[in-house]
Formats: sequence, C-alpha cells, structure tokens
Amino acid sequence: MSVKVKFIHQVKVKNEKTVLKAAKEAKLSIKAPCGGKGTCGKCIIKIVEGKVSEPTKAEIKLLGQQKIDEGYRLACEAVVVEDVSIKIVKE
Ligand code: FES
Repeated sequence: MSVKVKFIHQVKVKNEKTVLKAAKEAKLSIKAPCGGKGTCGKCIIKIVEGKVSEPTKAEIKLLGQQKIDEGYRLACEAVVVEDVSIKIVKE
C-alpha cells in the first residue's frame, strides 16, 4: 500500500521573477533540461491559486491552449505577478 505525502514550501520573492528562478531560490528542484530557455517543455507546473503572467508563445507551442486553460504552465516562462500557489508537476 502506498500513501501520498504533500510538502508545502513557501518562499517570498520579488515580483517579475520566473517561477523557475523563484523555485531555485527556494532550493526546490524543477526539471529544466534546456536551462530555462523555453524550448524543452519539461518544467511543467500547475497554478493552483493566484495568477502569473500571460502565457508566452513558447508555452502555447509546447503545452497547447487546453493545458494552459487547465492551469498548466512552464516554470521558466511564467512570471510571478502576485501571491500564487504552484504545484510542481513530475512526469
Ligand atoms: S526549462 Fe525548458 S522549457 Fe522551461
């Protein structure tokens, strides 16, 4: 039998920082094989609460509009603009 464990980690960051950079400051690991260039599509996160910047062309191309509508974003493209809760998606 397995059970789920949810870790909650809160960090304060300055506005206008990508989620990927905020996660690095918080010492949280998000897969980023392209180094945050917006080309690999692996740094997937889900916005649980709050808002981030508008989706970029790279996010629309790599995730598709449906995933974006469901709250999925790329951590290297999404910029923090207000208080937000984010789930790191592990594939
Ligand atoms: S790190 Fe590659 S798309 Fe974000």
